[in-house]
Amino acid sequence: MKNLLLISATLALGLSSMSSYAGDGFFSSFFSLKRHNEVATVTNKDYLEECGSCHFAYQPGLLPEGSWQKLMDTKALEDHFGDNAELEEDVRTHILGVLVKASADKSYYKRSKKIMASLRDDKTPMRIIETPYIKKAHHEIPAKLIKDNPKVKSLSYCDKCHQMADKGNYDDDTVIIPGHGNWTW
Ligand code: HEC
Ligand code: HEC
Repeated sequence: MKNLLLISATLALGLSSMSSYAGDGFFSSFFSLKRHNEVATVTNKDYLEECGSCHFAYQPGLLPEGSWQKLMDTKALEDHFGDNAELEEDVRTHILGVLVKASADKSYYKRSKKIMASLRDDKTPMRIIETPYIKKAHHEIPAKLIKDNPKVKSLSYCDKCHQMADKGNYDDDTVIIPGHGNWTW
């Protein structure tokens, strides 16, 4: 039994280190199961540039298609949470396509599924932080660590605390709240 455990531990370690070196080839597709644990990453350059300048470029799998449709509406972009995030029409439709294709309702990734399963009254929320799953995941964090924390300002800035947010990883093991290294409360 002990040996078996040791072997599986070694195997698991071996596999996970291999997968972290994996590029786009065999290993990354072979280990796609592992990646299904979190949220699909986004690599589209236009999206990263246009939607990643004021805040981190949220993964499309954090909201359903209907939400992205509402957010990416021409008028809505002109008044985007108080900012103007207007886009050229061809860029707007291109980015909308990127978002819709990988939206939470079409994703097999764990976080996307949890977000979808949690939606109740509002099936097309305009904010990720208003989806019941994401809201609940943070409800114990005191305001002094979020909005009263000048280094964070709002829960919308996922990447301030989730150190691997750009890799689509939101595991609580990867959280460091700026100014509060140890976030136990
Ligand atoms: C000019 C700056 C700016 C640009 C460009 C911008 N945003 Fe935003 N976005 C904001 C602000 C400000 C907020 C609200 C942040 C807050 O409440 O603290 C926001 C919030 C959001 C939220 C809600 C996050 C949450 O759960 O609270 C989403 C989703 C979003 N933006 C998507 C996009 C997309 C998609 C694009 C590209 C088309 C984009 N943003 C481009 C400024 C911008
Ligand atoms: C102020 C820092 C902070 C910000 C900003 C933040 N989070 Fe978190 N997040 C945390 C902490 C701390 C936890 C763990 C909470 C707990 O276990 O009680 C957490 C938990 C989570 C979880 C559950 C993780 C798990 O292992 O079950 C998800 C998913 C998540 N956050 C996603 C997001 C997303 C998406 C955003 C941005 C829209 C965001 N978070 C913004 C600090 C933050």
